[in-house]
Amino acid sequence: MANFDRAFIDQVLSSTDIVDVIKEKVNLTKNGTNFKGLCPFHSEKTPSFNVSSSKQFYHCFGCGAHGDAIKFIQEHDNLTFIEALTKLAQAAGLELPEKTKKNDTYYNLFISNKLAAEFYSRSLENNSEAKTYLENRGIDQGMIETFHLGLSNNKWDDLTNLFSKEKIINNAIEAGLVIKSNNKTYDRFRNRIMFPIRNSTGNIIGFGARIYNSDDGAKYLNSPETKLFHKSYELYGLYECKKDIAKEKSVIIVEGYTDVIGLYKSDIKNCVATLGTAFTKFHFNKIKRYTNKIIFCFDGDAAGKSAAWKAITNCLPELKDEIQLYLIFLPEGCDPDSYVKDEKDNFDNLINNPMPLSEYIIEHLGTDIDIKTVEGKTSFALEAKKVLNQMPDIMYTDILREKIQQMTGNIILKKNQATHDKEKNTSSDTSQEFDIKELTLLNLLIEYPMLVKEFNCEHIITEKTLINIYNVIREEISKNENFTAAHLLKLFPNNEAVRSIVTFESNEKSEDSARVTIQEIFHQLELSSKEKVYFELLNRYTDGQSLSEKEREFIKNFKK
Ligand code: CTP
Ligand code: MN
Repeated sequence: MANFDRAFIDQVLSSTDIVDVIKEKVNLTKNGTNFKGLCPFHSEKTPSFNVSSSKQFYHCFGCGAHGDAIKFIQEHDNLTFIEALTKLAQAAGLELPEKTKKNDTYYNLFISNKLAAEFYSRSLENNSEAKTYLENRGIDQGMIETFHLGLSNNKWDDLTNLFSKEKIINNAIEAGLVIKSNNKTYDRFRNRIMFPIRNSTGNIIGFGARIYNSDDGAKYLNSPETKLFHKSYELYGLYECKKDIAKEKSVIIVEGYTDVIGLYKSDIKNCVATLGTAFTKFHFNKIKRYTNKIIFCFDGDAAGKSAAWKAITNCLPELKDEIQLYLIFLPEGCDPDSYVKDEKDNFDNLINNPMPLSEYIIEHLGTDIDIKTVEGKTSFALEAKKVLNQMPDIMYTDILREKIQQMTGNIILKKNQATHDKEKNTSSDTSQEFDIKELTLLNLLIEYPMLVKEFNCEHIITEKTLINIYNVIREEISKNENFTAAHLLKLFPNNEAVRSIVTFESNEKSEDSARVTIQEIFHQLELSSKEKVYFELLNRYTDGQSLSEKEREFIKNFKK
């Protein structure tokens, strides 16, 4: 953890036997030198959860959960890192250094959010207008408690006063609860119903806040991106609903906080919501740890349809044969919260008969196309090919392709064999999977050296080997305008990456068309390299490493 005494962590870990720790919670049987049992993090009938005594590590081959003893306690008991560490330290008779405790940023942020949520909760209790609002929406005391709902009063300094001690106010600012501007501090959330957003282990990482007695301002206000809170990563309701997701063996993805609560109230408890963003591949990779059956629920209007296609295209490259995606569309003008209240039977019916992904893809591709005509078949096949190319090399893709081919008169939609082989060769030759866009970019720069001066690719290329080659190309071309692929090969006689670059066929026949292609690649790489950096930083956060001021700034400013 940030500012954490690594030596102390190691001391705790070496005084702990992970097998003993896990044995208390999971029935383990000896399996060679390891131990085996039913995974506590996903539902399964045959054991794929392994604990290694020699490596002091657990790993589940079913859901991928893994880590050391601290991580296990954290995940299993819903504790923060420091709480889990404390627990193990106590069991081992070790005293946690007080100083490290205070320095732990995550701990401080969790505690700040918890303090705020408790305050909001008391404020709600004392405000009959807000309680009546919730009551009228069918949100009863049980729901208020399950989702820990609260209220921010119509004041500028409630939390500011609560956190007024010097050190703590900084935590509140960092948690996004209090805003500091021009040396003035004031509460971010005022006069709103507060929805605490918890991570999967139950710690509050941020808040959603809805107006309830006025029409002033945005309907919802969310916590800003903080060290703990990343909107395109988190799912509302996961902590509250994860047991039911496991029980039902499925999850329903909705769009709003109140949808999750409304469905829960109607006894549909396996739901989560995005936080006002599109459903991303990061959401997908998070939720698939809990279940294999994912049902997306969207409005039937144009906005809902476009959100659905966006969500699906975000998931397509990440698909696995074991995972089943389904969609349901509600009648126009309904959201799950209202629909389940008015027409529970119809809603149940939709959930029990959702549209399989394959059907949805075919229907979507066929929109406004008359597949009976040659023209229709052609454009359908063209669009279908694009989608299929986004999908991984799995059985599901093959079967879907087969089905689409039948619809288009057995036109061949597989990547043509030569391209396929070439792609394969490129990656096996270089023994690394270079991004095809990065290779194309370098290939074009070699072919059209004039373009090297026009495009600064320094921060665009991400692969180390390729960056190195790019720097050489740039330097050589600045000395010699007639620098060619042959020169490059001479400089790197046995370099597989260089060979792939120069033998790559770009199909660009003129400097102008090469320029357009580079511009496009540039744009795409710029986006994805920023995204890559963003999520690398996020992962480092989540792993508890500290980030520099500049890196934190980058995260804050990163907009998806
Ligand atoms: N949202 C947001 N900012 C807004 C509007 C919406 O962040 N100005 C997010 C919220 O997470 C919200 C979700 O998008 O829950 C869905 O929006 P919407 O359907 O408008 O709200 P509901 O959740 O249905 O809320 P309510 O029923 O209270 O109107
Ligand atoms: Mn609603």
